[in-house]
Amino acid sequence: MDPIENAARILAAANYAIALTGAGLSVESGIPSFRGPDGLWTKYGQPSNLSYRVFSRDPQDWWERRLHDEVTPGNPTYDLKEAVDNAAPNPGHVAMAELEQAGVLKAVITQNVDDLHGRAGGSNLLEIHGNRNYLRCIGCGWRRPRAEYAITDVPPVCRECGGVIKLDTVMFGEPIPAATLEACFAETQRCDAMLLVGTSGAVNPAAQLPLLARERGAQIIEVNPEPTQLTPYAHTVIAGAAGEVLPRIAEAIQSLHTTP
Ligand code: APR
Repeated sequence: MDPIENAARILAAANYAIALTGAGLSVESGIPSFRGPDGLWTKYGQPSNLSYRVFSRDPQDWWERRLHDEVTPGNPTYDLKEAVDNAAPNPGHVAMAELEQAGVLKAVITQNVDDLHGRAGGSNLLEIHGNRNYLRCIGCGWRRPRAEYAITDVPPVCRECGGVIKLDTVMFGEPIPAATLEACFAETQRCDAMLLVGTSGAVNPAAQLPLLARERGAQIIEVNPEPTQLTPYAHTVIAGAAGEVLPRIAEAIQSLHTTP
């Protein structure tokens, strides 16, 4: 059977289908992925797993460098900020939001911090690596849109508890906020189908989620132009770009519902 048709049947028949997305979903919005030929880490090198420890040791220095890099071309912070600032949801994000609104997808776990799922209308969204538009206090978990908080002091200090404020985006070596991680595992435990879109499966704990789902008997569907570390665990593999494949899956589900 055509893999798109197969994916549509699985998702339409599932009681609780969820999705796990990665940077590949936003490539067609003009945001570079991290790994692979044009990846950000391929170009600049992957940040160290000590990134969070470096931040914690000297948040003032971290913030001074960050605010400088955001406005200085030639570094990954600048490149990613420019790309995300100029990005819009693509047909892949829109199709996933439609599948959520239709009740086909019950939750979307995304590793992306670009807010494009939310801007496309996604609602039950778990941003396992945070959201680049937010700030978060590492002391009490206080969290606000960055646009609503003027950074006057460096490092910014939480008015609630006096803790240090950082970007909401999870750094290498930083523990994922417990409530978010628990919710991701709960959705994984509950699902009977998981749609993987645009992730290499290179980073844990996110990459563990499809394996846990499969162990429980969930159907795993992968949408990716290239094979990944997760491909061997997928029951249905669709080799293609998210912006092209996801609308076709949504259409196929639609026709299943309308065909007598
Ligand atoms: N449609 C679907 N998938 C695509 C597309 C596309 N148009 N273009 C590329 N891809 C695939 C690539 O083949 C690759 O498998 O997207 C994947 C991107 O992989 P990564 O760059 O490793 O991104 P991701 O899996 O999201 O990385 C996980 O690593 O550095 C951290 O925090 C960062 O959240 C990120 C995490």
